[in-house]
Amino acid sequence: MEDLVSLCKRRGFIFQTNEIYGGLQGVYDYGPLGVELKNNLKASWWSSMVYERDDVEGIDSAILTNSSVLKYSGHEDTFTDPLVDCRKCNARSRADHLKDNKCPSCGSNDLTNPRPFNLMFKTNIGPVEEGASFAYLRPETAQQIFTNFKNVCDSTSRSLPFGIAQIGKAFRNEVTPRNFIFRVRELEQMELEFFVKPGEDEKWYKFWIEERIKWWVNQGVSEERLEIYKVPQKELAHYSKSTIDLMYKFPHGTEELEGIANRTDFDLGSHSKNQSELNIKAKVIKNNESNSKLAIQEKETNEWVVPYVIEPSAGVERGFLAILNEAYRTEEVNGKNRTVLALKPHLAPIKAAIIPLKRNDQELVTLATNLKTKLQKLGMGRILLENSGNIGKSYRRHDEVGTPLCVTVDFQTQEDNTVTVRDRDTMKQIRLPAEGIAQYLKEYLN
Ligand code: GLY
Repeated sequence: MEDLVSLCKRRGFIFQTNEIYGGLQGVYDYGPLGVELKNNLKASWWSSMVYERDDVEGIDSAILTNSSVLKYSGHEDTFTDPLVDCRKCNARSRADHLKDNKCPSCGSNDLTNPRPFNLMFKTNIGPVEEGASFAYLRPETAQQIFTNFKNVCDSTSRSLPFGIAQIGKAFRNEVTPRNFIFRVRELEQMELEFFVKPGEDEKWYKFWIEERIKWWVNQGVSEERLEIYKVPQKELAHYSKSTIDLMYKFPHGTEELEGIANRTDFDLGSHSKNQSELNIKAKVIKNNESNSKLAIQEKETNEWVVPYVIEPSAGVERGFLAILNEAYRTEEVNGKNRTVLALKPHLAPIKAAIIPLKRNDQELVTLATNLKTKLQKLGMGRILLENSGNIGKSYRRHDEVGTPLCVTVDFQTQEDNTVTVRDRDTMKQIRLPAEGIAQYLKEYLN
């Protein structure tokens, strides 16, 4: 973990937020390379969940959430962690994270009994500071998917099964944020709510578990470091009939990377009015405020159905950490240490570096700049003009941040318009006509 944290800071993947003022615990910023990797990871998820399927629509909803949504979703009552206070040093800890029932700060076992601590952040709306003028920062992106269920159905004429996908920020006032970006207070989720006919939920639950494992493997996560943890009945979230946690062997231990839950008809049922007229199977929260029937009318029978929901819910930061952990390696080459980030090309922050062999040679720099401009226009992600001089150092710098290809413009380019292409993983170089680089890159990145 220390190596990853150091690389992230040194090379501009992740910074502690507001560091110049002492930071903010459990909150991080993504730097020039981090934002690219994060965007690439999210784009890969979106592509596989939305573009490559024909039964999923996407949305992007607000973060500020009407408190009624989180009352009827059950979060006001149950979205809590068990909190204990140390009577000796006043430190607060999660009861379920204690070792030998001792305070992690001072080691005392003089602790209060656990009490529930709600993890949701509240904020004021408008100028009034009291009363009902507050909203929550959403604790999961899922709820706005449920509250937009009717809007999406009405605007797309979908029938079951179909899904709604969303990527976005969620906020949790974690008692003890820790393990770098693993447990944070401001996070990003990639969530799919997949709506199915009641009775078909088990089939789709299994389907999504398999799909999600395949997707993680395609991002470079090795299957040997993944395991499935079936959440026991007594630990299930209030909305869940069954959940598996897809666990990953992180540097700090094996913990959840993604959860896949069968949320039944609990959420749509709880947010609906006239619940008694609907054939809802879950024990829902009685709703006096909603003005909607979050159900879908079956085309064949005209019957109103409250769908069951299968939810694969992944954390962007956790994915980021797992992918860095997989990609990072150090090795000795000709007596020198080389650090390599062997990222899958589609995730690499920089797809190719275009390097003029001599930084002060205007003709080489112009040729390199023209090639960069031409490649950048193809929309394959970031192509960087690397004009820092020493070619060996440039290669090492790009190995360390995972740039798959380095294209060097040298004196031979001036004669026959060929360039060298160096592969990050093999360090082998080939010479190709500059004209063919676009096609080469396209094939390499696909
Ligand atoms: N939507 C599931 C979760 O946030 O844990």
